[in-house]
Amino acid sequence: MTLIFYSANDCWDDWADHLRREVPEIPLRHWDEDGDDATVRFALVWNPPPGELTRRFKNLEYIFSLGAGVDALLDDPDLPKGVPVVRMVEEALVIGMTEYVALHVLRLHRRQRELEGQQRAGEWHQINTPLAPDRQVGLMGLGVLGADAAQALIALRFDVASWTRTPREMPGVTGFHGAGGLNTFLARTKILVALLPLTAVTRRILDRDLFDRLPKGAGLINAGRGGLQVEEDVIAALDSGQLSEAVLDVFSKEPLPLENPLWDHPKVTLTPHNAALTGSATGAREVGANLRRVLGGEQPHNIVNTNSGY
Ligand code: NDP
Ligand code: OXD
Repeated sequence: MTLIFYSANDCWDDWADHLRREVPEIPLRHWDEDGDDATVRFALVWNPPPGELTRRFKNLEYIFSLGAGVDALLDDPDLPKGVPVVRMVEEALVIGMTEYVALHVLRLHRRQRELEGQQRAGEWHQINTPLAPDRQVGLMGLGVLGADAAQALIALRFDVASWTRTPREMPGVTGFHGAGGLNTFLARTKILVALLPLTAVTRRILDRDLFDRLPKGAGLINAGRGGLQVEEDVIAALDSGQLSEAVLDVFSKEPLPLENPLWDHPKVTLTPHNAALTGSATGAREVGANLRRVLGGEQPHNIVNTNSGY
């Protein structure tokens, strides 16, 4: 019974230390270390080489994702058939994402980019912005991350709405769902925050048609996945003034190629997919708890529904 680890982004030594503490009874092995692949029952991975989980590990029981989003894993046509994928739900991701959303909603709300431009130009000009209760923030996605971000926005007294696939109720949040709820949700949204998973349904959802349904001058924050946005449409909407600003953490191709016009766009704030990063201590705690569930004959929490894609 071995757990195999693969990630080009995460520190193996750190994870191994934490996992050893959490589940000392499970032998750990890095993907590149020699060993008997037939003993591997668990994989803990981020973007493993496509097809390799199936080719190498014939006795795999669970695939644990190091990230909350599992789109890249599910996109692998050769992912082991019938092996459940478990997504990452852990505190560092939640806290990090809420910080990111609160920071950028406040920046857009207070027109901080313009104030910084004024400072560079040596201009002294007060910009009067509405107060938070008069600013409608719309969260696309009210899952683990969206719900925590919503709590912070409510505490800041923003007027918060959500749009989800299924009906969701959360105190202080006006809920909309499905295709039928999208128009009304968009029509009231002055700052749109995308925290959706990338699925067959959500791919390219942030397009020109959607931006046209927002009030003119709305702001956009996308911290979900790059595949949610049509980059040309984001740029066109910024250039026409339909969008006032965009804050983008995620891109179809990462790292974002240097020739991409988003790098230099005057209305774009760009961050390198670091809105929220999985913590090794907190993440290992959750993976450890799930592994103990499996060893005790139970199912792990947060198994991905492969039909809905998240
Ligand atoms: P959850 O699965 O907990 O929540 C997903 C939310 O999206 C749910 O509210 C769900 O609706 C909604 N949703 C899914 N499909 C649709 C649809 N077709 N129409 C409307 N709503 C939909 O995910 P998390 O909150 O944990 O994470 C969200 C995403 O954030 C991840 O998938 C990942 O892509 C991204 N992420 C980005 C990070 C970064 O650093 N930029 C870090 C971590 C995650 P319902 O409630 O009805 O199920
Ligand atoms: C994730 C991410 O999905 O970091 O966890 O993007």
